[in-house]
Amino acid sequence: MQIKDIKQIGVVGSGAMGSQIAMVCALGGYSVILHDVSEESLTKAKESLRGHMNRKISKGRLTEEEVNNAFGRLIFSSSLEELNHTDLVIEAIVERLDAKRELFAKLDKIVPEHAILATNSSTIVSSKIADVTSRPEKVCNVHFFNPALVMELVEVVRGPHTSKETAQLAVEFVRNIGKTPVLLKKEISGFIANRILGKLMDEAVYLLENGYADHEEIDLVCTKALNHPIGPFSLMDLTGIDVNYFVRMQRYQESGNEADKPAQIVQDKVHKGELGRKTGKGFYTYNQAKVQA
Ligand SMILES: NC(=O)c1ccc[n+]([C@@H]2O[C@H](COP(=O)([O-])OP(=O)(O)OC[C@H]3O[C@@H](n4cnc5c(N)ncnc54)[C@H](O)[C@@H]3O)[C@@H](O)[C@H]2O)c1
Repeated sequence: MQIKDIKQIGVVGSGAMGSQIAMVCALGGYSVILHDVSEESLTKAKESLRGHMNRKISKGRLTEEEVNNAFGRLIFSSSLEELNHTDLVIEAIVERLDAKRELFAKLDKIVPEHAILATNSSTIVSSKIADVTSRPEKVCNVHFFNPALVMELVEVVRGPHTSKETAQLAVEFVRNIGKTPVLLKKEISGFIANRILGKLMDEAVYLLENGYADHEEIDLVCTKALNHPIGPFSLMDLTGIDVNYFVRMQRYQESGNEADKPAQIVQDKVHKGELGRKTGKGFYTYNQAKVQA
């Protein structure tokens, strides 16, 4: 297969990531089928994308015509079978290995033989999934960042089973949708950005838990001394403290190493339901009306 043969994209999971990945692909000129098992999630995705696109039009970043054309290329579907003509599928469902394995096994029977199957997982390497398919050489990680409509970088990860051709096609595809690809030659859980970020988060939590400084001060040091655009605690509130929790639990389950478990302070927040901006309280307290605006 050559890059010009990739014409139709399937995106599975229409949540925070999948919805925006689908829109990025449609804006890049591809015809896209966005599938989710939940009709409610598909409806929410459509509304949220409409809002994002309207804001881009009003800021002059996109024309009405470009947006209408992109929506014209984007189909929202609750039927997985509709992906039967796709050339590349990007999976963005819940971060659970069993769910991803079940989905990839189904996809393998639905999509054409030549199609590439990619996972947007934040942590799970594709070798943990590829063996449920009859085409491990066409399975890889294509990892977008949140929010996918805005963030430029995409990590492409080549597992030991992934062919050179698949990795190269994934890289070219990422370029075609206007993003900057980085190819990891070998797979490693968490990839590059989240591994580096994870170390920063760990140190920030260590300093907080051991009483060296409050979360506001630690954030202030990161923004004012290190010039980071956002501090680690503000960032955790933004992405969801539960995301940090699940990523660490996944790593702990893989390694069996106690040190990989989520920090106590993160566990406490999750048990109290203080998950960050989405619940109105995390490390900081938010005005819900403002957060939703
Ligand atoms: N949120 C982030 O910051 C972020 C960043 C990069 C990558 N990721 C990864 O992207 C993936 C999705 O994350 P998200 O934050 O968009 O999750 P989300 O919870 O917002 O959305 C997941 C969607 O998948 C749907 N779904 C669940 N099981 C399904 C199935 N079997 N078939 C079809 N649809 C199904 C759900 O209905 C839901 O709409 C995860 O693997 C996550 O690790 C997340």
